[in-house]
Amino acid sequence: MDINIDGLCYTYPNGVRALHEVDLTIRTGEQVAIVGQNGAGKTTLVKHLNGLLKPSGGEVRIGDWNTQTYSVAQLSSRVGYVFQNPDQQLFCSNVYQEAAFGPTNLRYKEAEVTRLVEGALRLTGLQGKEETNPYDLSPTWRKMVAVASILAMDTPIVILDEPTTGQDAVNIHRFTDIVTHLRKQGKTTIAITHDIDFGAENFDRMIVMSQGQVLLEGPVREVVSRVDTLAESYVDPPQLTRLGMELGFTQTVSREEEFLAAYRVLIMGRSS
Ligand SMILES: Nc1ncnc2c1ncn2[C@@H]1O[C@H](COP(=O)(O)OP(=O)(O)O)[C@@H](O)[C@H]1O
Ligand SMILES: [Mg+2]
Repeated sequence: MDINIDGLCYTYPNGVRALHEVDLTIRTGEQVAIVGQNGAGKTTLVKHLNGLLKPSGGEVRIGDWNTQTYSVAQLSSRVGYVFQNPDQQLFCSNVYQEAAFGPTNLRYKEAEVTRLVEGALRLTGLQGKEETNPYDLSPTWRKMVAVASILAMDTPIVILDEPTTGQDAVNIHRFTDIVTHLRKQGKTTIAITHDIDFGAENFDRMIVMSQGQVLLEGPVREVVSRVDTLAESYVDPPQLTRLGMELGFTQTVSREEEFLAAYRVLIMGRSS
């Protein structure tokens, strides 16, 4: 299910113009990372995809649905959005109910709800915490509950807003597994992230936003090679990319496997 964003403008009621003329197409099954400094408009952009915000100008289409004419409830069958702050999303008294709320609301059959909830709790590492009140968990685990509640809805499009912020290494690894799982399922995954290393390692395409506009977008490797343009948005290239440049690699690398391949070539060149 493609996402089409056409001339999207958004002004908050207090007059802040958060998005200006954003044009983007995101195709079925793409894994996209959105980066950019605080206040660039990333969250405002993705809130248009599930109808939480409606365009001030231009339009957003999810498949054949124009978000202007569909409710958030309707759009939630197509787009799952995990808020940056899970406390804006959680309201049930235990983890299981939280994860089951979405799929039940979408009227999946009971056995299907059970299967989806169990799968989502497994992926997020929440097995064994079914009876726990989300508010007795740490903020990082509450974030995982929020993720599980969206995964359990089995939507074709999943949006994660700052998934790795404040998470420890184990949970960051879990997010890698979640993105890999969504990729295998053929779902579209969009993550807003401050963590450009996580973005470069796990996503195919990168969108850099600055001041309410798309500054740069394309395959990750192409985007991270545009060091000067990235600097305009106060984004540093991934560590591996910078290290590769320091080492004099002839091509840009953005992932561990690319780095190692280029490093081997470099070493062999020196030893021959
Ligand atoms: N609820 C709101 N009311 C008014 N202005 C807002 C609101 N939310 C965000 N903004 C403003 O809109 C701009 C874009 O914010 P946001 O989309 O949250 O950026 P990002 O997610 O990239 O940090 C910023 O200038 C921010 O201060
Ligand atoms: Mg944000």
